[in-house]
Amino acid sequence: MKFVKKSKKGYTPTKEGKKEGQSPPDVYKESKKNRVEFWAKIAREEIDWIKPFKKKYSQKKDSFSWFEDGKLNLCYNALDRHLKKRDRPAIIFIPENQDEKKIEISYKELYKKVNEASALLKKKGVKKEDIVAIYMPPIPEALIFMLACARIGAAHSVVFSAFSPEALRMRIQDGGAKVLVTSNYYFRKGKKMNLSKKVRKACKGLKIKKIVIDRKKAGKTFKKKNPKIIEPEPMNAEDLAFILYTSGTTGKPKGVMHAVGGYTLQAYTSARYIFNLREGERMWCTADIGWITGHTYTCYGPLLNGATTILYEGLLTFPKQDRFLKIIRENKVNAFYTAPTALRMFAINDSYTQKYKNNSLKVLGTVGEPIDEETWNWFFKKIGKGRCPIVDTYWQTETGAAVIASLPGHGPFIPSYAGKPFPGIEYTVINNKRKKASPYEQGLLVQSPPFSPSLIRGVWKNKKRYKKYFIGKYYNASDNAFYDKEGNFRILGRSDDIIKVAGHRMSTAEIENVIESLPKVVEAAIVGKEDKIKGTKVIAFVRTKSPISEKRIIKEVSKKIGPISKPSKVYFVKDIPKTRSGKMMRRILKGLLEGNEIKNTSTLINPESVREIKEIINKN
Ligand code: WT7
Repeated sequence: MKFVKKSKKGYTPTKEGKKEGQSPPDVYKESKKNRVEFWAKIAREEIDWIKPFKKKYSQKKDSFSWFEDGKLNLCYNALDRHLKKRDRPAIIFIPENQDEKKIEISYKELYKKVNEASALLKKKGVKKEDIVAIYMPPIPEALIFMLACARIGAAHSVVFSAFSPEALRMRIQDGGAKVLVTSNYYFRKGKKMNLSKKVRKACKGLKIKKIVIDRKKAGKTFKKKNPKIIEPEPMNAEDLAFILYTSGTTGKPKGVMHAVGGYTLQAYTSARYIFNLREGERMWCTADIGWITGHTYTCYGPLLNGATTILYEGLLTFPKQDRFLKIIRENKVNAFYTAPTALRMFAINDSYTQKYKNNSLKVLGTVGEPIDEETWNWFFKKIGKGRCPIVDTYWQTETGAAVIASLPGHGPFIPSYAGKPFPGIEYTVINNKRKKASPYEQGLLVQSPPFSPSLIRGVWKNKKRYKKYFIGKYYNASDNAFYDKEGNFRILGRSDDIIKVAGHRMSTAEIENVIESLPKVVEAAIVGKEDKIKGTKVIAFVRTKSPISEKRIIKEVSKKIGPISKPSKVYFVKDIPKTRSGKMMRRILKGLLEGNEIKNTSTLINPESVREIKEIINKN
């Protein structure tokens, strides 16, 4: 079936496309009348409450809240309420190794497993409001424990399994986690990756209880026929659902806090409207559970809608490039959601795509960084076969769910444009005078109040930093953007010192701190350089006291943060361009990397450094 047709600018839905759409036909018009009531209506009618709310939205000086006096449970909404259709698969787990069988877990089975895991957490002493760290590969038990935390009212803090022991340790300590749930190993690119060793290192001297899941039993643990049922904890809508650490502009990652009510509502609604999810539909979001995308569209979004989530353990192109298409075919995936960097990898030597019809696909999605037109068109033609809408979903760890995206039943789908703000949410662009920008004028992307239900409620143990998210009456996204005459947004990239490498968010300051901790290094500056596959790659400029090798520096970053942050090139320089106030001019370094002529160096305290660095870059 064809869901889209060509239009003047990009594509629009066909009649079938409109019919397939899960957002009401008048959703934009209706939601604009009263944004608070728009959300409240869905919350009342489609979310299950233990105690219904009366208060909808309120805003004070430094805070806002949704459904303040209501009580609900996220796990109940994701599991218990689907038990009538108990035999439908909730999770389909696909191990990387093709000799290992895939495992389907029905809603009924998942319900039992989550209850058993909840009892185990309780036995370990976990109570409401405690933090539980989860350091696991994408295996069903990771989702089982996320749901178990939600069930008993504990907040999970998931840590990406490729992060280093140091990164894990920092997150355990800052969060004050009582229990760590982990696994002994997992497979990646056919290799056995040892997690136990990293955990041992991370937890040295820490008082923390551990639950270790044997990878060999992935998807097969918690088998009790009649486990004890743990009643879902009634949570206030504003209670903490979970924290998730993400990079900020300083060296230290921040724990982004999400509230139960708003998160449940928006994860549910966005998954339904953007991916057309409903009971029985199958969604494959390729993001690891260590990222917010994995939280919202691998775990909670599909389950809140009674859909099936596909969970794949390994590399998308293992053992051969067509692995992801095989998975789509074998599991009849309806919505496929991935990152531009993965798509650029798929597009290399792509004749294999001709062998696949991809008939099951209805919606394609991308996330994490701006998608270039070439990659968009490749995705549209080679994977969607010209039939499927592409939803380019813009959001952040802080927004908890997608906030700007075209809806499949509405369109338009324009390459490189994310589209319109999600119904009930208002974004705009402001210029440096803090005035609303006109169409096509570039500026800062901001969200206007009333704020979206799943927007960040706090930074863990750091009130000051939370305040920094707001400028004037707006929530500042720290992204540059513009919008066209029809109100479609195009995202241009970060406005701060954060770079996105293969869709992963990292702070230049964090990497700089690690390099600067080496005794032989005086200072370091990190900038992003354009890369064909990763979108951006990490480049380091380093000033040293005494010689040190490039390898040593790369190793240190890998060890302290994780391999995803390691520089692909280190330039040793005599001086790093700085302003009189001592601010490193990463913008100039970036310009030099791109081969630009740097004209105005008058604000620099050391203008001669620019010529020297130019020579070094040219030589290498
Ligand atoms: C940053 C947030 C939440 C999804 C995963 C990333 C960039 C995200 C898009 C998009 C252009 C995008 C922004 C944003 N970004 N989606 N569709 N188009 N840029 O979450 O790690 O918190 O990163 O990713 O720069 O601020 P995150």
